[in-house]
Amino acid sequence: MDKLVIRGGHRISGSITASGSKNTSLPIIAATLLTGGGTFTLHHIPDLQDIMTFTQLLHHLGAETAFSGNTLTVSSRNAESLQAPYELVKKMRASIYVLGPLLARFGHARVSLPGGCAFGPRPIDLHLMAMKKLGADITIETGFIEASVRGGKLRGAHIEFPISSVGATGNTLMAAALAEGTTTISNAAAEPEIETLCHFLIAMGAEIRGTGTTELEISGSDSLKPIEFHNVFDRIEAGTLLAAAAITAGKITVNGVIPDQMKAVLKKFVHAGCIVETTENSITLTGPEKLVPTDVTAKPYPAFPTDMQAQWIALMTQAEGTSHITDKIYHERFNHIPELNRLGAHIEIRKNQAIVHGPQVLSGTKVMSTDLRASASLVLAGLVAKGTTEVLRVYHLDRGYEKIEKKLNSLGADISREKYKEF
Ligand code: EPZ
Repeated sequence: MDKLVIRGGHRISGSITASGSKNTSLPIIAATLLTGGGTFTLHHIPDLQDIMTFTQLLHHLGAETAFSGNTLTVSSRNAESLQAPYELVKKMRASIYVLGPLLARFGHARVSLPGGCAFGPRPIDLHLMAMKKLGADITIETGFIEASVRGGKLRGAHIEFPISSVGATGNTLMAAALAEGTTTISNAAAEPEIETLCHFLIAMGAEIRGTGTTELEISGSDSLKPIEFHNVFDRIEAGTLLAAAAITAGKITVNGVIPDQMKAVLKKFVHAGCIVETTENSITLTGPEKLVPTDVTAKPYPAFPTDMQAQWIALMTQAEGTSHITDKIYHERFNHIPELNRLGAHIEIRKNQAIVHGPQVLSGTKVMSTDLRASASLVLAGLVAKGTTEVLRVYHLDRGYEKIEKKLNSLGADISREKYKEF
């Protein structure tokens, strides 16, 4: 197993280009199942464990893929709607994204229930509600979703989501793209990942109106075509790299980004005392000598993203005062806090709010990753902690960050990746 050994005390400065978005890659790779008409070429796909897991799932379904130099080619000409097995779905919840495309193209699907994750239950009731509205019969048997459509074709419907769900919106968009008639979605997720999925489906020949908003209308097509596509940047990786400069009073420029998609995060960095300058496709952040305590509430886009909540808590351990970080999306997404407190932070948890008392001097020690963004927050803390911090079980980190230690070392960090054994 791998750990990251971080020798703290170095400013993070320099310039770097953001990788492609993980959370956009997953639904667009799933969307390749919608047509067997040829080969897709997808550029700027990050080299991540989650992407490997997803391509394994596509192979299992009969699709062919090849990945080199961040370009992924996919042909689902020979794909069949076989089952999406527990072992893969459990490893990566976003495997549920195959449900909509398999139902839309083949009229049936058998997908393992994904189960929960480190920060609580991750229900999929909204995915199933939408598929039923589109005409699918859904039963749950021995841990699997058994879905089928009488007559083989989904039928357009009006779908109103009671809460904003990125995954359920994505699945519904992909299913509706091949359904008979028109589908309208109210309270759709408007995250950039969904906006990009709409652009991807439109390029494939889908008819979608309302892209980028919470009200979407999709007119089903008889068939869709394979395309070449350049994936967008990863706004959470970019935010994490900016936080590395902010916590070490460094200065960083992140290139290949769309600042407009990071407004809520940039606003909070400015409130915390950072200087933020943007161009059309770059963000430059200068971290202050003294950080200002800054409250954050994680909510659906365009609010502050829950995927930056753990990183923000790490940053606020160094602020000159008390900060309140509330997560309105995942009320239990705080597994990073006990580990940050082991580094010397002073953070309390009250229901779905973390109260961070700063500034606290952090002292390096061994800490355990529990999930993707929790491990990112431990790396950020290690950058500023005195001495050496060892972040264990970095397979969590490798799911969502492409060569993060190489990137940070190119910006002045002192991190090594080492093998270790667990008792
Ligand atoms: C996506 O997960 C992201 N994952 C998550 O990023 C992100 O935290 C989340 O959106 C919220 O922004 C990918 O895009 C692969 P949701 P998703 O459906 O789609 C509840 C990361 O770190 N809900 O928007 O699973 C749910 O419990 C990951 O990269 C239902 O109740 O999230 C949550 O409270 C972690 N029923 C809220 O909705 C459902 O059927 C939002 O979840 C579906 C969701």
